[in-house]
Amino acid sequence: MYPFQIKTKEAYHKSYQQSIEDPETFWASVANHFQWKKKWDKVLEWNFNEPNVKWFSGAKLNITENCLDRHLEKNANTPAILWESNDPEEHHRVLTYKELHFKVMQFANVLKSNGVKKGDRICIYMGMIPELAIATLACARIGAIHSVIFGGFSAQAIADRLQDASAEFIITCDGAFRGAKDIPLKSVIDDALVGNKTVKRVIVCTRTRTPVSMIKGRDVWWEDEIKKVETLGNPDCPAEIMDAEDILFILYTSGSTGKPKGVVHSTAGYMVWTNYTFVNVFQYQPAQVHFCTADIGWITGHSYIVYGPLSAGATTLMFEGIPTWPDAGRFWEIVDKYKVDILYTAPTAIRSLMGFGLDYIKGKDLSSLKVLGSVGEPINEEAWNWFHKNIGKGKCPIVDTWWQTETGGIMISNMANVTPAKPSFATLPLPGIQPCLMDENGKEIEGKNVSGNLCIKAPWPGMIRTTYGDHDRCKQTYFSAYENKYFTGDGCLRDAEGNYRITGRVDDVLNVSGHRIGTAEVENAINMHAGVIESAVVGYPHDIKGQGIYAYVIHDGSHGDPNLTKQDILQTVSRIIGPIAKPDKIQFVPGLPKTRSGKIMRRILRKIAEGDTGNLGDTSTLLDPSLVDVIKDGKIN
Ligand code: WTA
Repeated sequence: MYPFQIKTKEAYHKSYQQSIEDPETFWASVANHFQWKKKWDKVLEWNFNEPNVKWFSGAKLNITENCLDRHLEKNANTPAILWESNDPEEHHRVLTYKELHFKVMQFANVLKSNGVKKGDRICIYMGMIPELAIATLACARIGAIHSVIFGGFSAQAIADRLQDASAEFIITCDGAFRGAKDIPLKSVIDDALVGNKTVKRVIVCTRTRTPVSMIKGRDVWWEDEIKKVETLGNPDCPAEIMDAEDILFILYTSGSTGKPKGVVHSTAGYMVWTNYTFVNVFQYQPAQVHFCTADIGWITGHSYIVYGPLSAGATTLMFEGIPTWPDAGRFWEIVDKYKVDILYTAPTAIRSLMGFGLDYIKGKDLSSLKVLGSVGEPINEEAWNWFHKNIGKGKCPIVDTWWQTETGGIMISNMANVTPAKPSFATLPLPGIQPCLMDENGKEIEGKNVSGNLCIKAPWPGMIRTTYGDHDRCKQTYFSAYENKYFTGDGCLRDAEGNYRITGRVDDVLNVSGHRIGTAEVENAINMHAGVIESAVVGYPHDIKGQGIYAYVIHDGSHGDPNLTKQDILQTVSRIIGPIAKPDKIQFVPGLPKTRSGKIMRRILRKIAEGDTGNLGDTSTLLDPSLVDVIKDGKIN
């Protein structure tokens, strides 16, 4: 079924070798198994200095033909999307490939009739309903560039992203259900649009029936627009012919500066990479049910709910709700109900469910599970063992998949039942991936049992092409720290067998519940609050979230009760970024430990937040070393 699916450890090593020795031949042989309007002239051209990376240049294709049309002949009635509502009582939905194909074409026609053209940027801000996948694919169908924004981001965060991408169209919902909450998405969009000059049309899909304001001439209902195109008759929407390197989507992610960057992925390479990694890492077999618990607002959802599985003709399960509502048995109930084969989730979810004990697993039939997966942050051994024993019943391999928004798909991971797992190690690079560890001086660290900064030496098909509207930023962020290498921002160690273990970010990016959050972004948001003079944000170990956010804030003391001020600061951060970026702890401090040149010594703040105050290292270069004791004494537990 999947001609390039690797079946044995030996075959992995062989493929790996081939992919490094002759990447062009290797990737051409993989790419041959996709549907092209025209094949490539050249498999790979690259130069990391600019950076300029082109895969399959000269080729013409449409990714939706690979995700939809090509499955129709044999698998028209295979479920493409299984959808489970937030509400366990609400009837689930099944969309076969035929139905999904139809709905994507239909909505693509809606987009066209609303004036969307190839290359236009469309912001999608929806809950996890099938229409989100339909909207995404409909954009791809007509060559519009989607920028999906996670439903937890605030109006301000959306406004920034709309402006950065100069988006002219928005697709949203009236609201979204998440656990016991009803999130007023359209109302957030309305706030984001105050002062916006570029957005011409907002298409609103009905989900919660929350009252919304619909502005004449700008806002239209999804359902009405569908009816309009229906009356036109022919539902076909021919796939736009795209160049291999045409932009497929933009996805904003946090970095070490205050402004999120629009990571750009192009069409052909991303398609090949998500498909290749999906079938190999999870060892997907036809008719299996793949359940990735991420939200499509994050890269994991893009690659392993939508494009990877659908391009492989798989059945992908979309879940609208959260793991702990109505109770902590929700995932296991879903596994039981749909006979899920592959469960791909995040360590933070596992740790949180672990905390609820085993009662929620009792009575749920998990015997359909064959492969478990973890993504988003390092998985600690305790969580690994719990997942392995209680969910996988000791028989399911766990793939610990390391990758990033920028890498498009999984980079370092064991492959289920093919290469061995090692708890807390992502293990080995996939074919095509050449990791290396670098030291502070830009030298590669060779050998075994060593650690350093993780870089990648050569291009892979799914890699970032640019940061939208600012190519230099892409160069500075990823290709300047080390000559001729892509710098991941992660620290990493390599054991005696060549297994890689990711140790966490080495830049100022936090990983909170598997979400990337830049400390500078949070600081900017805190500093917006009246009375705040300065702030410094660091991460600290958090039992469930992996990392928690600790904020040191200098406040002018105005406006009374400090506890209320803290609440106000949280509210400000929620407004500026979204609730996901709210600090877990806020400590008011009289000053921040700075060097004579004015640089905040975050190392010290990190140690204090971690509770590791025994050895703060050298503080003699500080402008005011006595501040350290004051901060230590005021630590929030
Ligand atoms: C971290 C998510 C350890 C890492 C796909 C990376 C991981 C960042 C793992 C990217 C893993 C992701 N083990 N750390 N298996 N997977 N990370 O862009 O720090 O949301 O740089 O992409 O998450 O987060 P992003």
